[in-house]
Amino acid sequence: MCGIVGYVGDRECKELLLTGLERLEYRGYDSAGIALVNGSIDVTRRVGRVQMLRDAVGDGSHPATLGLAHTRWATHGGVTESNAHPIEACDGSGVTAVHNGIIENYVQLRTRLLEQGHQFHTDTDSEVISHLVEEHYDGDLVEAVRLAYNELHGHFAFAVIHRDHPNEILAARRQCPLVVGVGDGETFMASAIPAFMSETRRVQYVLDDEIVVATPEGATFLTGEGDVIERPIEHVDWDESAAEKQGYETFMLKEIHEQPDAIAETIGERLYHGELQLDGLNLDEQQIRELSRVVILACGTAYHAGLIGRYLLEEWARIPSESDIASEWRYRRPVIDERTLVIAVSQSGETIDTIAAMKEARAHGAHVLAVTNVMGSQATRDCDSVLYTRAGLEVGVAASKTFTSQVVLMYLLALKLGIVRGTIDATRAETLLAQVRALPELAQQTLDRGHLVEPIADRFWESEFFLYLGRYIGLPIALEGALKLKEISYIPTDAYAAGEMKHGPIALLDDSTPVVVIATDNHVYEKVLSNIQEVRARGAHVIAVATEGNTRIEELAEYVLYLPRTEPELQAALAILPLQQLAYAIAKRRGLDIDKPRNLAKTVTVE
Ligand code: M6R
Repeated sequence: MCGIVGYVGDRECKELLLTGLERLEYRGYDSAGIALVNGSIDVTRRVGRVQMLRDAVGDGSHPATLGLAHTRWATHGGVTESNAHPIEACDGSGVTAVHNGIIENYVQLRTRLLEQGHQFHTDTDSEVISHLVEEHYDGDLVEAVRLAYNELHGHFAFAVIHRDHPNEILAARRQCPLVVGVGDGETFMASAIPAFMSETRRVQYVLDDEIVVATPEGATFLTGEGDVIERPIEHVDWDESAAEKQGYETFMLKEIHEQPDAIAETIGERLYHGELQLDGLNLDEQQIRELSRVVILACGTAYHAGLIGRYLLEEWARIPSESDIASEWRYRRPVIDERTLVIAVSQSGETIDTIAAMKEARAHGAHVLAVTNVMGSQATRDCDSVLYTRAGLEVGVAASKTFTSQVVLMYLLALKLGIVRGTIDATRAETLLAQVRALPELAQQTLDRGHLVEPIADRFWESEFFLYLGRYIGLPIALEGALKLKEISYIPTDAYAAGEMKHGPIALLDDSTPVVVIATDNHVYEKVLSNIQEVRARGAHVIAVATEGNTRIEELAEYVLYLPRTEPELQAALAILPLQQLAYAIAKRRGLDIDKPRNLAKTVTVE
């Protein structure tokens, strides 16, 4: 997730761009950069926040009335000045671009462009955009961008300027946000409305697979084939605080809805044309085959993602796997050695319990793989290899999009290990990879049914206790669903293995208890139905999360939240979505500060 701002008009744009960038800093702040066109293109880039860029460009005026600026959340290529945007094509080309998202086929494009003589100067996937435009340019910038756009695979938004086109910004979008701000004799282009809201409230939304040509007179929208599309101008009347959250009432709600995108980014180029590649894993095939054990360590929500990882690694890669709470594991006397893969999962990469466990694991000679969302975090320094989730900045203290991204990374990792170890056959791997690729779309379909949690919240928001039950891969989802509800609504919850309920928690049930049961389609489905019968017999109220088509559950549960059908293991990434929405709807009815629940911190750096 990065932030893009562009301006073309008749005013000096340096300050407009810097101010816009500051309003997009929530989208990432690893580095920032600005390109100002005035006969030539002056580009300034700095690592760190926009303030560093401000200090670098100084207070003085700059005559440019065309420019682009960018704030970066690093995904491909480290947090360095040379990887910051805007990114120029070859020296003297006059082409500069900014980009948000992932170019999945950048390796293939980069290889070809290098053969064609282009000189690359960053480690990013983004750089291929500038060089492609340069390659196709023969005086017609619109056509060059259109041809470049048609070569890109992935999901992205980008903007391009050219030294010799002082009145044009070219931009395109596929799944990443992009919006045009319409002024009087000036046009803005940005990842989000707050970037230009103080200047204009007239907007045109760029839709998927569209190219935009922005000039001072306004914007023209084109299809990839070059056909013109009409786009109405709309008026936004958000206040400043709503704008920061993209019109959502809280960051958490925004982040819940960003999950299809976070999942898509996390998959990115790692899965391309059915091939699964995990750069950063840093284990060769021989080492993967020789692994004797996997230990997954984490805290809180990340621990729940790790639990899912354990099931997947056993199921697909047939490696003995365990998952433990980092703060517990480090005080055990763990039995691990050089053939153990320790996976440390941490959104922030700074959780002290997880970091300490990583150090302990390395001291025993294990290979430590960090799974984190934050480049340059402590976890990335205390490990042997890193795989990044790419959920973008998560502001809500209760994790949502970082959890689903972690789960998706576990899918990729377990599949990779299974394929290399030969424990998953080619046909099954192909099916699973295709279904992983479909997850962003399935997540969107699931979120679109969010209104179905409202009657459940209406009925139970004043309940004093919720029980969550699940078996197999549904158990970590029950744990995570229960954690979400208790974190943001302060309602006491318990989450249990459904088969274990009869050994204790069943004593808690009476006719006032809502019981959320994860009953997705898998080999324990019938067992879960029996557990639901046990709950019903005590008069408690069953809210089931089930798979489309399994309608028999409607005879047993008072409410059923259906998920689109996919492979049994992949349902975990979907099943949490209605539970996040339910927790949210209940917390809202209780009038709580959802983004900042009491007593919690986003990053826990104390033991
Ligand atoms: O940054 P980490 O993933 O290491 O954080 C771990 C936990 O502190 C975190 O998941 C916490 O449980 C959140 N409040 C969950 O919503």
